[in-house]
Amino acid sequence: MTPPPAKRDLVSLADIASDLPSLLERAARLKSERHRGVRRPTLAGKNLAMVFEKPSTRTRISFEVAMTDLGGHALYLSSRDLQLSRGETIADTARVLSRFVDGLTYRAFHHADLAELARAASVPVINALDDLEHPCQTVADLLTMHERWRGRFRGHRLAWVGDGNNVLHSLLLGAAAVGLDVTAATPVGFDPRADIVAKARELARASRARIELTHDPGEAARGADALYTDVWVSMGDEGEAEAREKAFERFRIDSALVALAAPEAFVLHDLPAHRGQEITNEVLDGPRAAVWDQAENRLHAQKAILELLLRPRSARARGR
Ligand code: CP
Ligand code: NVA
Repeated sequence: MTPPPAKRDLVSLADIASDLPSLLERAARLKSERHRGVRRPTLAGKNLAMVFEKPSTRTRISFEVAMTDLGGHALYLSSRDLQLSRGETIADTARVLSRFVDGLTYRAFHHADLAELARAASVPVINALDDLEHPCQTVADLLTMHERWRGRFRGHRLAWVGDGNNVLHSLLLGAAAVGLDVTAATPVGFDPRADIVAKARELARASRARIELTHDPGEAARGADALYTDVWVSMGDEGEAEAREKAFERFRIDSALVALAAPEAFVLHDLPAHRGQEITNEVLDGPRAAVWDQAENRLHAQKAILELLLRPRSARARGR
């Protein structure tokens, strides 16, 4: 008997680097179908368990609606209500959940816990954010840029202004994979992790993307085609809030910073925003903000990701 194909996880954005062009095409198609009221039950009968250790609005709801739209079902599981909270191990939880469902998503404080769940589960595991990466966010971010630049990443440059955090890590890997130039401006001491930057530069060798780091927000923003920021204090970093607020004071997207960017440049934020900190009301509520499209795109991106991991290749090929 032929063994079943190995399951695929999305722990790091690098796990789907070579799938990005087809994922983005698929997400764009699913978006246009949904806007026309078309729903296809490509994941009929599939169940997704979603384990969350931290709050979520967009990720949780987009996964849940995506599964319903695709004919499947999603179960929201707060880690506080699982036996995990009473000491059952992550590996044992993974083994049991794998007997019930077809896929798992996990929002974890620690990347090592996510990796452990993925190792022990016999079904695909999707990273719904941890302290190292937020890969599903990147797929929606790339979809947003893809639609505004009519599918062309090459020749465009994205400026990141803020923390060298999970969202930036996945974004660097994704941008490098598709050939988008990135200049990331972070305060001294809050740079992205060196191993992630090295991995992004390795991916960028094939795509010829330029991945640059600076400590000067103005340098990053000057002439950029899109600006992106995220909160100064991520979930889990609350103990450092005061020190971070001081360190990040110059790393805010305001009208003056937007004025340095290209005339058609738009502004991204993964949300939730801390209005008045990393982004001003004027920019977030203004005509340059692409953030509401970006938030909607979480749904379409999630569907493409779920189909890729939960649906056999043969069925995907027949269904398009
Ligand atoms: N951007 C994002 O992941 O939002 P949530 O924390 O609301 O899921
Ligand atoms: N960097 C933020 C992203 C929230 C969606 C955090 O980890 O809290």
